[in-house]
Amino acid sequence: MWKPPEKIRYSPEPGAWPTRDQAENSLWFSPIRIGPLTLASRTWVPAMVPWRSNEEGWVTDDVLDWYEQFARGCPGGLVVEATGIRDIPSGPLLRISHDRYIPGLKELAQTVRTASNEQTRLFIQCIDFLVVRRRPDPGRFMNSFLVVTDAIREALDMEDADETAIREILKAMPDDELDGIIDSRQLESLRMGFRERVSDMQAPHIRDLPTALPGMFAAAARRAQEAGIDGIELHYAHAYTMASFLSRTNNRDDGYGGTPSNRVRLPLEVFGKVREAVGDDYAVGCRFLTEDIVAGGSTVEDSIYYATEFARAGMDFLSLSRGGRFEDARQPNIGEAVYPYTGRSGYECMPAYISDEQGPFGRNIGPGKAIRDAVRGAGFETPVIVTGGIHGFEKAEQILQEGKADLVGLARQALADPEFFTKVRSGCGSEVRVCEYTNYCEGLDQKHKQVTCKLWDREGIEDINVKRTLDGKRRTTAPVWSGVQAS
Ligand SMILES: Cc1cc2nc3c(=O)[nH]c(=O)nc-3n(C[C@H](O)[C@H](O)[C@H](O)COP(=O)(O)O)c2cc1C
Ligand code: SF4
Repeated sequence: MWKPPEKIRYSPEPGAWPTRDQAENSLWFSPIRIGPLTLASRTWVPAMVPWRSNEEGWVTDDVLDWYEQFARGCPGGLVVEATGIRDIPSGPLLRISHDRYIPGLKELAQTVRTASNEQTRLFIQCIDFLVVRRRPDPGRFMNSFLVVTDAIREALDMEDADETAIREILKAMPDDELDGIIDSRQLESLRMGFRERVSDMQAPHIRDLPTALPGMFAAAARRAQEAGIDGIELHYAHAYTMASFLSRTNNRDDGYGGTPSNRVRLPLEVFGKVREAVGDDYAVGCRFLTEDIVAGGSTVEDSIYYATEFARAGMDFLSLSRGGRFEDARQPNIGEAVYPYTGRSGYECMPAYISDEQGPFGRNIGPGKAIRDAVRGAGFETPVIVTGGIHGFEKAEQILQEGKADLVGLARQALADPEFFTKVRSGCGSEVRVCEYTNYCEGLDQKHKQVTCKLWDREGIEDINVKRTLDGKRRTTAPVWSGVQAS
């Protein structure tokens, strides 16, 4: 994982915990409208992929257990992990890409309703992503994947040579000498693994994304609605297809890239089709980036424009993240795929305890406020959700009191203690297991291993009734708190 060069170590700063009365009278624990829904509080657990589904993308018992634990904490909103809208094998990623997934999702919605005593509204994050291949063995790349172009022949001064001879020369060449010979895109495929981009207009399936995606997202949204999930979060953040349309790096020349209004066009068309499918009486919002944090990527200025357009189009909420892009990701080992949270932009997405002067807590609050101010300035009341390193009541309440956001989310803190909100609301904040921001969980995510938290995954592991992860070493869910329940 990338670390800021300053390498300053931070300990968690949860601040003082409220009494039960203080919590009850706080903004954070007061209701809010999200489109047609009323959330019991302004608390939110954003999407986290826990790798609990299976190769077919089903809602498994492990998936149910995962969400049940968060529902027991009764957040106002709980977002189901990034869930695939394409009916294609996607590893153990949850899917919503066919009607056959509806019964499983129905069970998931029911599980959350029951465990939260109907206190939590459930959203599902719908994702599309493009192809990312593993980093190839260099010999195999030169033999089988490299396209021997005229430019390569020219650079080698081997215009008429046999292709096999050219491949052999390149195979024997030191890596740093390849730069002037092979074009940057093929070099990227060699060094990082092949990765599709939204600007690969020569590929028909990429060129046709604006035609294909609105219908796919709309079908997914209709399934979520049928399953009894309360709302949809369109995944327009991080390294995936929709965020790449929004990114300043998108230079498509078909009216869907280049200028900000062209870049936001597909995200708006997707939203339009989704709205058509589910009607006005269903909550639909999106998650997007305040900043890409990569060279040439989108900035707060772009996001202010997008947010205002999303609000104008009638989105019911705007959930903010930052970074998490492929462009600055670390080189993967041969045989592994590039992971978008390993560079500086990845750090900004999930800041860890080794940080810089600014520290890891609340790095998205300033950009979030700028976006919320602009949305309000344009005359829209669309709720804005901010997340990132927030783990205490005082901080969350201050954000809301100062009008910097309308809801405050906790991802890793909720993983460290899924019953966080129940504890805080009932005046038992001192019993919260406070996240240390070590990113042990994120390391598991990176390896597509079942995600757990180091603060609890060995607790009571000797008990034969405790469910264990596939490696047998860790418990799958947090121990249940036996304390006071929030009324
Ligand atoms: C294990 C793990 C999986 C995540 N999966 C997703 C995801 O599916 N979709 C998403 O938008 N963000 C995902 N995130 C990012 C979080 O939602 C959140 O934005 C980030 O962790 C920063 O918030 P925090 O400091 O409260 O953890 C994930 C984070 C973690 C730790
Ligand atoms: S493993 Fe636990 S303590 Fe460490 S960052 Fe993840 S949630 Fe926080």
